[in-house]
Amino acid sequence: MSTSISLSVLFLLFLLQSPLPSLSTNSEGNALHALRTRLSDPNNVLQSWDPTLVNSCTWFHVTCDSNNHVIRLDLGNSNISGSLGPELAQLTHLQYLELYNNNINGKIPEELGNLKNLISMDLYDNKFEGNIPKSFSNLKTLKFLRLNNNKLTGPIPRELTHLKNLKILDVSNNDLCGTIPVDGSFGSFPAESFENNALNGPELKGLVPYDFGC
Ligand SMILES: *[C@@H]1O[C@H](CO)[C@@H](O)[C@H](O)[C@H]1NC(C)=O
Repeated sequence: MSTSISLSVLFLLFLLQSPLPSLSTNSEGNALHALRTRLSDPNNVLQSWDPTLVNSCTWFHVTCDSNNHVIRLDLGNSNISGSLGPELAQLTHLQYLELYNNNINGKIPEELGNLKNLISMDLYDNKFEGNIPKSFSNLKTLKFLRLNNNKLTGPIPRELTHLKNLKILDVSNNDLCGTIPVDGSFGSFPAESFENNALNGPELKGLVPYDFGC
């Protein structure tokens, strides 16, 4: 008897301590709202991003699929500033991350490497600094990666040569160092993709470490 009573009490305590389900169901909306709070938005392009709405698919610049999963974020040319955070990795269905031509600064979160369905990442013409995350090598469906015209430093991660679907890469106009990879799809990218950096030209494999001069 007393055992079953104390078990019931334990179960009640467990119920009381569990978070309400409604607070955890909309992780994609929460991620977008977190992004909004990080950004400064002088032109009010994020005005429709109302966190009290059940789903974010009605917000401007957000596109969802038929299951109400966010598949596009279109915030290019929006005059937004601030930095990105790790919560963007919650947008697990995202295919297009379009943030080009803004004033976004800070590091590119390595968590963006968790966006397994990404087809296009356009972060060009911003003020991003720090390294190109090695985690981008997990973006197996990525076709377009444009990081040009930022303030990125460090070497081009060799792991990116594993991206078999990459069609367009542009890292020009940054402060990258070391040598340019030659393996995989890097064999087909034009020299313009790499110009205006502190890069030392194509990698001479086995002769010099790729991050020589970094
Ligand atoms: C961008 O925002 C700044 C304020 O941060 C403003 O002065 C400027 O006019 C805006 N530019 C455009 C093109 O709207």
